[in-house]
Amino acid sequence: MKKLIEHAQEMRSFALAPYSGYTVGASVLTEDGTIVGGCNVESSSYSLTCCAERVALFRAISQGHRSFKGLAVATENGGSLCGACRQVVWDLCGDIPIFITDKNGKIDETTSAELLPGAFDQSMLK
Ligand code: THU
Repeated sequence: MKKLIEHAQEMRSFALAPYSGYTVGASVLTEDGTIVGGCNVESSSYSLTCCAERVALFRAISQGHRSFKGLAVATENGGSLCGACRQVVWDLCGDIPIFITDKNGKIDETTSAELLPGAFDQSMLK
């Protein structure tokens, strides 16, 4: 998990965040041990911005990965995942460990179930 967290910290340096100045890196660990990263990418039409977590997951999905074992998120202040990303992480990963780190390397460990209690998901659609 140390490698995953360091990867997310490195991904943060690629963030394109000219409007908020809040840079985020995220890396996901796939079932086969591959690490795929992403960063936040902002738009002048603010709502089109995509968070680092979703960039990482959508990159991994588009490379053929379907099963995930962990997620690391790196921000300046250890800020948590937004609501939209919590839903997407739950949908694509189920209950996995999530490591949130700040610029000093402090690590908070949580899980996707803890971040989205009472989640809506595909089981409601059957
Ligand atoms: N952001 C993320 O990348 N992930 C989150 O979970 C929270 C927010 C980004 C979106 C935007 O570029 C900036 O942080 C400020 O909201």
